[in-house]
Amino acid sequence: MQNKILRVDYPPNMHSLSVSRTQVGIVGAGPAGLTLALLLERCGIGSVVLERRDRPYVEGRVRAGLLEQNTVDLMRELDVAGRLEEHGLAHDGVYLRWQGQTLHIPMTELTGRSITVYGQQQVVGDLIDACGERGVEVRFEVEDVAVHGLDGESPFITFAGEEGEERLDCELIAGCDGFHGVCRPSIPAGVLNEYEYTYPFGWLGILAAAAPTTDELIYAWHERGFSLYSMRSPEISRLYLQVPADEDVAEWPDERIWEELQARLGVEDWRVGEGEIFDKGVTPMRSFVCEPMQFGRLFLAGDAAHIVPPTGAKGLNLAVNDVRLLAAAMAAHFADGDDSLLDRYSESALRRVWRAQDFSNFMTQLLHRLDDGEPFGARLQLSRLEQLRRSEAARRNLAENYVGLPAEDDF
Ligand code: APR
Ligand code: PHB
Repeated sequence: MQNKILRVDYPPNMHSLSVSRTQVGIVGAGPAGLTLALLLERCGIGSVVLERRDRPYVEGRVRAGLLEQNTVDLMRELDVAGRLEEHGLAHDGVYLRWQGQTLHIPMTELTGRSITVYGQQQVVGDLIDACGERGVEVRFEVEDVAVHGLDGESPFITFAGEEGEERLDCELIAGCDGFHGVCRPSIPAGVLNEYEYTYPFGWLGILAAAAPTTDELIYAWHERGFSLYSMRSPEISRLYLQVPADEDVAEWPDERIWEELQARLGVEDWRVGEGEIFDKGVTPMRSFVCEPMQFGRLFLAGDAAHIVPPTGAKGLNLAVNDVRLLAAAMAAHFADGDDSLLDRYSESALRRVWRAQDFSNFMTQLLHRLDDGEPFGARLQLSRLEQLRRSEAARRNLAENYVGLPAEDDF
C-alpha cells in the first residue's frame, strides 16, 4: 500500500509541524469514512482517517439500525460481515398499523430483496476493528481539523494531534464528517446549492432490555403521533415516539414512555413488551441536500452532504452507497489517471440521494401527526394507508423504495 510515504518532523517558522503524506485524507470516522478507508485499502490505496472524538464515543453513539441488502452485500464483499451475519436480524417485511388494523408489507416477496436489523454502532465497531486488523490508520481525538488547497493539485489537511500541529498532504480529500463537520463549510460561498426542510417534530428513541413482542418492525400512525417498534436482538427492543422538535428528554420519565407506546402501538390482546430502559434520546428530523457533492479535490459523502428523516431508514445506507461510488471513482483516478468517474460522482450519488429524500419524506408525511390544526392532512394520510391496503402496486412501490434499488444502476 502506498501510504504514509513520508513523516518528517522539522521546525519551520515558529514551532514543530509534523508533515505526512497519504493518497486520500478522510475526515470523519463514521460509517462513510470508515467504509471508504476499507474500500480503498482493498484497492491498494492508502488513506488516513481523522476523527475528532475518541473511539468509545464513536462506537457508543446510538443511531438507527436498518441495513438495506446493498449495504449488507457491501459489508460481505469487504469481509467485515462476520458479526453482522451472526447477530443481524434478517427481516422479510414490515407492518404498518393504523386505527387498530395492521398491514403486512412483504418486502422480500414483492422485491426479492430483504433488510437486516443491526445497530449502526455495531457496524461502526466492526469497521474500526477491520481497519485495525488491516493497518488502515484511524486517528481519534484530533482537534482543529481544517482542509486547504481544495481547488489545486495539492490539497492538505491540518490538525492538532497528541504531539502538536500536523499537516497531512493528500492527493484527494473525502469529507465524511457528518452534518456538523468542517468540510462542507470549507467550500467557498456560492458553489453549493443547499436544500433543507426541518420538520416540526423529532423522535424520542429508547433502547430497552425487553424481548420484542413483534416479529417485524411496526410503523404506526396514531392520532397521538407516530411510533415505531424496532429491535436490536431477541432481548433488546428499540422504540421511537414522535415528540415536538425541541422536546426535553427530562419530560419523559420511563412510565410516560411506556404508557404512550402502549397507547400508540397497542392493539386488542397485544402489548409492547416492557423492560428496563437503558438509553433515551431525542433526535431532530431534517431533510437536507447539498449539490454538487464535490469542490475541486474535496468529495463529500454521507451526512456531510445530505440528511434524511429516519422514517425511511436510509441514512446509513445512503452513506455507504456514496462511498461505494466514491471508492470506485478514486480507484480509477489512481489506477490510470482516469477522472471520468470522479467527475460523475456527485451526479451519480445524488440520483439515489434524491430518491431517498422523496421516499423518506413520503414515509414521514404519511405517518406523523402533522399538527397544522387542519384535519385535512390526517384524512389524506388515512386514504393513502387505505390505498396501500387495497393496492399491490402501492405496496410494491413502497417495498422497492424501502429495500433500496439494486446497486448496479448507479454510474
Ligand atoms: N473533525 C474530525 N471529525 C469530525 C469533525 C471534525 N471537524 N466533525 C465531525 N467529525 C466526525 C464525527 O465525530 C463523526 O464520527 O465525523 C463523523 C461523521 O460520522 P456520522 O455522523 O456517523 O456520518 P456518516 O459517516 O456520514 O454516516 C451517516 O450516520 O447520522 C447517521 O443516520 C445517519 O446513518 C447515517 C449515518
Ligand atoms: C432502528 O431500528 O433504529 C430503525 C429502524 C427503522 C427506521 C428507523 C430506525 O425507519
